[in-house]
Amino acid sequence: MQKATIKGNLTLDYAGNEALNTICSNLTFSGKNIRKIVITSCEPNDGKSFVAIQTAVNMAKRGKRVLMMDADLRLSIMDTQYEIELTGPKFGLAHLLSGQCQIDEIVYETNLQNVFYVPIGTDVQAPLSLIATPDFDNLVNVMGETFDFVVIDAPPVGLVIDAAEIAKSCDGCVLVLEYNKTHRRALQDAKDQMERTGVPILGCVLNKVTMDRLSTKKYYSYGGKYGYNKYGKYGKYGKYGRYEAGYYRREKQKGKE
Ligand SMILES: Nc1ncnc2c1ncn2[C@@H]1O[C@H](COP(=O)(O)OP(=O)(O)OP(=O)(O)O)[C@@H](O)[C@H]1O
Ligand SMILES: [Mg+2]
Repeated sequence: MQKATIKGNLTLDYAGNEALNTICSNLTFSGKNIRKIVITSCEPNDGKSFVAIQTAVNMAKRGKRVLMMDADLRLSIMDTQYEIELTGPKFGLAHLLSGQCQIDEIVYETNLQNVFYVPIGTDVQAPLSLIATPDFDNLVNVMGETFDFVVIDAPPVGLVIDAAEIAKSCDGCVLVLEYNKTHRRALQDAKDQMERTGVPILGCVLNKVTMDRLSTKKYYSYGGKYGYNKYGKYGKYGKYGRYEAGYYRREKQKGKE
């Protein structure tokens, strides 16, 4: 099997750890048939990939063999964000779904015990033609039989429909909300969209919670339950920057954004 080395820092502080423990316990108690989940949110930058990788790591620490699949085929930066180095020909989801390789060529064993990884392989212009297919459904099924838990990182459902298509192959979905950013209306739309797939929404993760503010309002005890401390500002891409480039202005080079 190909190897992947995740060099990025995945260490969480106490509150972050507690939050992830709670999220993963709740996922575990969602039912024994809930083993393939998709993570999405309303907008870019809410923390989907963060929640996906942290959930995978936390589940793996519980002794489960976990597969994390990057299905943000439009413009994922998972590999660069978490400094994931792949060995071999570096095939990924896009290669498999376009018939360029076999399933076993896109699954990487990582340096983290019990964590396996499927990268996108390469960005594609029309991901729906790859995702909304029996081949994708078959892949997710096979992964569900091979691994104890499958976490799929998707693009924001508020902008593109990919996550809803991915959800159709899953047992449940998780919506990530960014504290002080996600609007009620946007959340309602995302919820409606995901509900139309018929796949249960298992819950929401309130991410990037500013603990100081919560603690002054007697909500502190909930901080660990649903969110984590916001470690810094995330202005790297600007509002929708990367997705505008990814979805609507692809001529922009990734490096220049
Ligand atoms: N709870 C958190 N604590 C600290 N940093 C976070 C947290 N959640 C997300 N981030 C940071 O916020 C940024 C955006 O997170 P991430 O890439 O996971 O979002 P995303 O929803 O997957 O974005 P996209 O829609 O572009 O795929 C990253 O720099 C990530 O490290
Ligand atoms: Mg992401």
